[in-house]
Amino acid sequence: MDESFFRLVFSRHSLGPKHQTIPAPDVGALRLAVSAACHVPCHGENLPFRWAEVASRDRLASLFEAALPADADEAARAKARSKALKGPMLLALIETDISPERSERDETERKLTAGASLMNLLLGLHAQGFAAKTVSAKDFEAPDGLYDPAGEAILCFVLVGTPDKPVDYNDIGQGSDEHLPLVRW
Ligand SMILES: Cc1cc2nc3c(=O)[nH]c(=O)nc-3n(C[C@H](O)[C@H](O)[C@H](O)COP(=O)(O)O)c2cc1C
Repeated sequence: MDESFFRLVFSRHSLGPKHQTIPAPDVGALRLAVSAACHVPCHGENLPFRWAEVASRDRLASLFEAALPADADEAARAKARSKALKGPMLLALIETDISPERSERDETERKLTAGASLMNLLLGLHAQGFAAKTVSAKDFEAPDGLYDPAGEAILCFVLVGTPDKPVDYNDIGQGSDEHLPLVRW
């Protein structure tokens, strides 16, 4: 048995942007985590997602601001824009090749694959000493090239940085077995 796997999984936890500092992952670390995030079970030939690193936070801030009602005041605008600035690195998980022709079952399987990708990304970052937090995303009316609204949608954002306290890989708080959602049928 390879205990390092369980140590890694059980010691990972989400850490919000307030507890994330620089540095963000460099290109090599990001590519390694995304490679892990592409090594996932998938029923179709093509992965149903892609990852985007949001390099221009200002453009994302403008998307958040544009989603506000036209009469939003300055404070609301500043708050909306600030969402784009959180975390030393910001990634978007984007569902690709969306089609109304697919069955509900296919849709579910595609989401399962994207979820597996999210998990491997988080673990791939954690294994390299980085902290991350997944946060919800809403689709933008005009996403300014971040994704193509004709066939793509945002699934979530992931904020990434260096944890303000060093990662403890021995911190295996796996919780109580009583609450394991597992039955024998
Ligand atoms: C798709 C998705 C969206 C999420 N959105 C938010 C969010 O907007 N805000 C938030 O506080 N937590 C959000 N969460 C939950 C956190 O990312 C995190 O999973 C949760 O706090 C549990 O922490 P853990 O990873 O340490 O178990 C989201 C999780 C997922 C999977």
